[in-house]
Amino acid sequence: MNILLKIRRGDRLESFEIPYKDGMTLLDALHYIKEYIDPSLSYRHFCRAGICGTCAVNINGFPKLACKEQLLPYTLEEEPILIEPLNNAPILKDLVVDLSNMVRSFKDYEIWVYPKEQPTKIDPELSHHIENASDCILCYACQSFCPEVKDKFYAGPLFFAKFYKLYIDPRDQKHGFRLLEALNSKIMHCLSCNKCNNVCPKEVHPATLIRELISF
Ligand code: SF4
Ligand code: SF4
Ligand code: FES
Repeated sequence: MNILLKIRRGDRLESFEIPYKDGMTLLDALHYIKEYIDPSLSYRHFCRAGICGTCAVNINGFPKLACKEQLLPYTLEEEPILIEPLNNAPILKDLVVDLSNMVRSFKDYEIWVYPKEQPTKIDPELSHHIENASDCILCYACQSFCPEVKDKFYAGPLFFAKFYKLYIDPRDQKHGFRLLEALNSKIMHCLSCNKCNNVCPKEVHPATLIRELISF
């Protein structure tokens, strides 16, 4: 069986027909195209295991990890699969977007723990909450899918999840400041549409964390 991928390359869509193999993921399909059809196709990947967050692309309009996305369900639909770069980031080439703004924001928002001088004890339940919010792999899917991110003063679900994590972390000297930073970054403009929850591959649930942060 063959499958048809339509891949956005700049302002055009290019079609690639490839043979489907059992267990094939979208990343396998992109590798096949690169190896056997067009070596100039550009996309990002690294771990192939849903850990590094580098391979997220839009599949039929939804941001997903290419290495985790099985192609079998798409073959049953017998429609071409539309593959495009993530939204809300400048396109560098084909499926590769420029995430340097995201990296810059980490520095601007100081997304790291400022440790207290004395060791801080954390109860297991709180530790579980912190760990859940820490599961983020920076894939950018939530930022890409959030309708509010077009406002450059809106930090976005990825960063609100980070503010939440640091706010509840008693080891962080600046934890109280995190809520203020979230308010300054327009957290109240969140539409609570849950789009970020629905696309997060690690079940960080940014929209839920936003609602919790606002309620503190
Ligand atoms: S719930 Fe809020 S942060 Fe999440 S996608 Fe909607 S507007 Fe964006
Ligand atoms: S919160 Fe989820 S969707 Fe957003 S960057 Fe982290 S892992 Fe990706
Ligand atoms: S290649 Fe690392 S998450 Fe897909």
